[in-house]
Order: sequence, then structure tokens, then C-alpha cells
Amino acid sequence: MSDAVLSQFKQEEAKEEIKAERKIKVGIIGTGGISEGHITSYLQMPDVEIIAACDLIPTKAESVMHDYHGVKNCRCYLNHKEMIDNEPELDLVSICTYNTQHAGPAIYALEHGLHVILEKPFTVTIDEAVEVMRAEKKSGKVLSIGFQPRYDYSMQYVRDIVQSGMLGKIYYVQTGGGRRRGIPGGTFIEKETGGVGALGDIGCYSLDMVMNALGHPKPLTVSAYTSDFFGKDPKYNGEDASRFSVDDFGAAFIRLEGGIIIDFRISWAMHADTPGDTIILGTEGALRIPSCDCWNGTIEPGLKLYRDICGVQTETPLPYIPKGEPLLFYRKCRGVIERAIYGKEDAMIVPTSEIIYNQAIIDSIVKSAKLGREVEVVIPEV
Ligand SMILES: NC(=O)c1ccc[n+]([C@@H]2O[C@H](COP(=O)([O-])OP(=O)(O)OC[C@H]3O[C@@H](n4cnc5c(N)ncnc54)[C@H](O)[C@@H]3O)[C@@H](O)[C@H]2O)c1
Repeated sequence: MSDAVLSQFKQEEAKEEIKAERKIKVGIIGTGGISEGHITSYLQMPDVEIIAACDLIPTKAESVMHDYHGVKNCRCYLNHKEMIDNEPELDLVSICTYNTQHAGPAIYALEHGLHVILEKPFTVTIDEAVEVMRAEKKSGKVLSIGFQPRYDYSMQYVRDIVQSGMLGKIYYVQTGGGRRRGIPGGTFIEKETGGVGALGDIGCYSLDMVMNALGHPKPLTVSAYTSDFFGKDPKYNGEDASRFSVDDFGAAFIRLEGGIIIDFRISWAMHADTPGDTIILGTEGALRIPSCDCWNGTIEPGLKLYRDICGVQTETPLPYIPKGEPLLFYRKCRGVIERAIYGKEDAMIVPTSEIIYNQAIIDSIVKSAKLGREVEVVIPEV
């Protein structure tokens, strides 16, 4: 890709001019690790004010907002209900809570007329996701799921290649990622807070990359396996082993509408460096996306396109498209503000109507692994 093409992105962003006539009032629910990406993004927006924050851990919201970020006039609370009940001026909330606290705060915020950015994964179960979508539908508000890799130009490039039809009919996709050792700690490793392990933490990214490229075909059946050999073993997971109650590895064979197969695997820990590259096979060509540790789901350099050209088998390295400025977290928060507050229909959000399939697959992986057989993917009516 030429410099001229790449610089188009930069020019577009530089042109963006934010008028600070009206301050948009934002609240942060959960002030743990990932809230940092949301808070620093909002603090760069002249038309946004973080007026409130909350965290279940006493003084955590104060220490993050007042002491660390210096937002002294931010009012702090102990949970989402207290914050929303006491802050009638809020326009939007960023929900940065652990996975099992995604659905409740999202529903409560929507019922109180707020727009929502909900961190990934959507929820833990498909039933919770459907409840959130019902509340979203009833409220008429904007809800976007926090998959910032969607704003990565490389991910958009992958989608554009597949959607252009140059690979022909897609019939098989191998995807996944993960690392030899990299089990997180904190709230990620217990069922009560994380709900699911590697599946929900990083598996959802690999699934979103390929589902987005494929145009979100409906999942039909899943046959899956999960394990926890490393997470539960003090040899590999130290003191955290005793409280580890989620998956650290998952694999699944997923059938999608349109005769497409996804062969998926994800790992927080194993005795190999990678579970393999992502490969998208079509009748006219194939795409290889290099495997990555999958910490945040973005695509690394090394894309390759395979096609027969005039009878000759070719293998073309594709250029890496830099992620550009502003950072992906800024773009994901800004997209929602532009759509929800300024009504720009072309502003990018990550809609629940697309991520519901991601959630349905994860939910079905958990069910299939538990039952030890293939299951049908059932998505309740919203
Ligand atoms: N988009 C990304 O790149 C990315 C990266 C890491 C984590 N995440 C996601 O972000 C979420 C949070 O991750 P984290 O690393 O910040 O976790 P964390 O455990 O550090 O922080 C979560 C915080 O939420 C608080 N909390 C939970 N329920 C609450 C409620 N009802 N009201 C107020 N506070 C509440 C907890 O006390 C905790 O402090 C997870 O769902 C995770 O999957 C996204």
C-alpha cells in the first residue's frame, strides 16, 4: 500500500475538530486496569467531562480519579446503581467491570436512559447477552462492545479482502492465538468474577476478527474442549492455582451458516509457543494472518495472500498498516460519542447485533465442553 493511501487515514483524523460547546457527561463503572484506556481517552476530549466514577472496592475510584488522574471534581461511588441514581445528568457510561458484572450494570444504565460502552467480552452467557439486547432495544440508546481491534486498519483490511470476494467462497477458517505462558491473575481467573477464562479474555478477539471478516454468519453447531491443567497447577501458576476456576485452554469446531467451518483454539498457557496462524481458505485464494500472543487482539505484521494468477501459484506478502493516531481506545470511545451524542450514523461502533454470535459461540463452547459432545447453537429471540 502506498504512502499516499496510508496518509489518507492520518489526514482524516487531523481534520477532526471537536467543538466544546456542550460538555458530554460521562461516568466510569469499575476503575480497574482497563478503565485507564477509557479515562485517558475521555480526558483528551474537550467536549467530555468525567463527572462520576464507581468501584466496589472502597476508595479505589477516588484514588484513580482524584489522586492518579487529578480529576478532583469527579464524584465517586461504591457501585453502578448508587452512581447512576445520584447522577441524573450522565449521558454515557463506560462499563469496565469484570465479566460477570457486565450484564447487570449495562441493563441498569440502559434502563436509566444512558448510552453505554461495555468492555469485551459482551457477557459471560448468551442469556445475559440477550437480556442486555432487550434492554438496549427498549431504551433506544447506543450500546457498543469494547472490541478496539475493530478500529485497527489491519483488521479492516482483512475484512475488506474477504468481503471483496477475491478469495472466492470461504469454506474453512482456522483461528485462535495465545501464549506458552501468560495466565493473568486478579479477577480474570475465578468463575465468580471472570465467568470464563481464556475463552472470554482473548478467544473473543480471534473469533471477532474472523466473524467480522466473514460478515457475521450465524453459528449453527459447536463441538468443543476446554482445560485448566496449567491454571490449577502451582508449578505453573504459583499461589493463584488454588483459586483458579476457569479455562486456560479451549478448542472448538464451529459450523456456520453458508457451509463455513471455524477451527478455533485459544491458550493462556501450554507447552508450545503458538496454537497456529489464522488461515482463511476460499475457492479462489487464501489469507494467512500470523499468530499472535493475543493480549489485546490486534493484528501483527506478516499478512500473506495466496492466489493462482494465470495458472501460477503466487504468495504475496501484504503491507502492514500502522494503527495510527489517536490510539485505538480513543477511537472506540469517540466512535460511540459521535454516533450516540452527535447522531453521526457513519461513526463506527461495535453493535450487539454482531457480537451476539461471538457470545453464542463462547456459550456453546462452554456447554459442549461440559457435555463432551457437539451442541446446537441456540440464540433466543431479542
Ligand atoms: N479492551 C481491552 O483491551 C481489555 C483489556 C483488559 C481487560 N478488558 C476487559 O475489561 C474488564 C475489566 O478488566 P480489568 O482488567 O480492568 O479488571 P479489574 O478487575 O482490574 O477491574 C474491574 C473493577 O470493576 C469493579 N467492579 C466490579 N463490579 C462493579 C460494579 N457493579 N460497580 C462498580 N465497580 C465494579 C471491581 O471492583 C474492579 O475494581 C473485563 O471484562 C476485561 O475482559 C478489556
